[in-house]
Amino acid sequence: MHTELCDRLGIELPIFAFTHCRDVVVAVSRNGGFGVLGAVGFSPEQLEVELKWIDEHIGDKPYGVDIVIPGKYEGMGEMDPAKLEATLLAAIPAQHRQFAAKLLTEAGVPELPPEERHHQLLGWTAATASPQVDVALKHEKVRLIANALGTPPEDVIERVHESGRLVAALCGSPRQALAHKKAGVDIIIAQGTEGGGHTGEIGSLVLWPQVIDAVAPTPVLAAGGIGSGRQIASALAVGAAGVWTGSLWLAVDEAEAPPAQRQSYFDATSKDTVRSRSVTGKPCRMLKNEWTEAWEKPESPGYLPMPLQGMVTMDMITRTHRYADKAQKVAFNPVGQVVGMINESRSVRAVIQDLVADYVASVERLQNLMPG
Ligand SMILES: Cc1cc2nc3c(=O)[nH]c(=O)nc-3n(C[C@H](O)[C@H](O)[C@H](O)COP(=O)(O)O)c2cc1C
Repeated sequence: MHTELCDRLGIELPIFAFTHCRDVVVAVSRNGGFGVLGAVGFSPEQLEVELKWIDEHIGDKPYGVDIVIPGKYEGMGEMDPAKLEATLLAAIPAQHRQFAAKLLTEAGVPELPPEERHHQLLGWTAATASPQVDVALKHEKVRLIANALGTPPEDVIERVHESGRLVAALCGSPRQALAHKKAGVDIIIAQGTEGGGHTGEIGSLVLWPQVIDAVAPTPVLAAGGIGSGRQIASALAVGAAGVWTGSLWLAVDEAEAPPAQRQSYFDATSKDTVRSRSVTGKPCRMLKNEWTEAWEKPESPGYLPMPLQGMVTMDMITRTHRYADKAQKVAFNPVGQVVGMINESRSVRAVIQDLVADYVASVERLQNLMPG
């Protein structure tokens, strides 16, 4: 499964793994793939700590950093993080905070100790993600910066290119893919609706070939629903340069997930996810539960635009992770439909070995279908 992109990035397998856990980044890259650390939840100072740790453990392997600068959000244009946060905080109606807090309290989730409360505004904006890019570019082994939810701003693309690295961006439609290409993005990640986290409406096998044809010869990574080697074979068969995966790494041995959260992935079938705006304001695929359903009911105050809804729910997310054993009915568990294929914890190495073996078996199966 070695593609040209592998040579450009100095990797063995075109298997890209998005994760929030530094241990998973290291394990994926050390096992031949390409680990990508999701930076959205880290302050620039925390991100520096994470990247330093990765550098110390990853050997001579490359890795990536993923930021989130949406194409459109409240307060866009303001580049002073403190001013932006103050303006946004003032715009949050009290009823949204009350509604969110009530759902958790009624579900029996304890309050957070004050010192564990999150920053209100994380990396969801150009003002807060730009310093993350500065941090990432100080680390030599970071070879790729990826952006979610929009085309990265011109200055970000320029800075990354000037430093000799590649820029990737996620998309859910051929139109978004073309906008990325026009802006100078090097790698397009086409994520089908099946995928975990923020996701569009078009299914993977319908989206991938459309994006590949629209932006050719720009390389496209196929994302959304990949959990086996035979799915990797199908992605490469339609012309993808590799695969970009997320859900598959949520319950590996190296991931940080608490036992109750892991169990909720193992128990879920592919029917148990929903695209919900309840956590960030934009449709995000996650496990369906009492929280996601409550935001759809008539008594719900409705969703705020990004990043306001996320500022309301940030502490709620921390609270449901901190008290995971009491919180699964209302917890934030972003995951894709592939959750139905995740039934046990395994090491990253074992997952990658299985992906490769299943891929090889699929290719052989196809070869055996060739006449004579
Ligand atoms: C828990 C979770 C959090 C995610 N957060 C982000 C994010 O911050 N930035 C991003 O680019 N993609 C994010 N994604 C999407 C992944 O990058 C990837 O595109 C997606 O997981 C692929 O689909 P799959 O989950 O079916 O493998 C997230 C996915 C999951 C499961």
